[in-house]
Amino acid sequence: ALHGVVALDGPSGTGKTTVARRLAAELGAGYLDTGAMYRVVTLAVLQAGADPHDADAVVALARSVRLDVATDPDRPSVRLDGADVGESIRTPQVDAAVSAVSAVPEVRELLVQRQRTLIGDVAARGGGIVVDGRDIGTAVVPDAPLKVFLTASAAVRAARRGAQDTAAGREADQAAVLASVERRDRLDSSRAASPLRPADDAVEFDTSDLSIDQVLVALTELAGTRG
Ligand code: C5P
Repeated sequence: ALHGVVALDGPSGTGKTTVARRLAAELGAGYLDTGAMYRVVTLAVLQAGADPHDADAVVALARSVRLDVATDPDRPSVRLDGADVGESIRTPQVDAAVSAVSAVPEVRELLVQRQRTLIGDVAARGGGIVVDGRDIGTAVVPDAPLKVFLTASAAVRAARRGAQDTAAGREADQAAVLASVERRDRLDSSRAASPLRPADDAVEFDTSDLSIDQVLVALTELAGTRG
């Protein structure tokens, strides 16, 4: 079983979330989807009718809402003020607004603190945890024994995101999905506060030509030696 932290970072559509969940289940570890936390705050902003670019309003909402996160890889869940929002955080509206929300330094401070507490709770029980995000290896857990940065070509990432949408019963317009994925990665990589980038000591994997199973085999092996 895994005892440490596996930091799994990378842009959207690399298969990161699927890989992270399955890796956690396989290693008997916890699973933390930090992207879901930024999405919940974004959903709260949209539901309140606030402007995602109004940093003061965004910070006030981030401070006032209740966010509950479950770290079981078989049943990951996020709640906003008690309501399960696992599906409503994956809409094109949230996709379009989340990068503005996640670029606000106070929002990041608040959520990173929560993430460290959640990770600490799992560690206190003697368990390991796979943490999925953009800044886990660089900012949230800079001393993680294993850091992985997944990449894939933009076309492959858009195709994967589109397939996820279709599987979830949402309509997927491939060109729109590609544009949205590229825009979000550009914003996430260029923000001032903990931008999306690989840590110096991260193992980088280009998953463009790999199946989820192949990535999983490689990561399970790495976690066995370094986790
Ligand atoms: O992983 P996911 O695509 O759900 O993440 C949604 C958004 O949340 C990202 O595009 C990014 O803006 C933000 N995010 C972040 N830091 C993380 C995880 C996600 O800024 N650790």
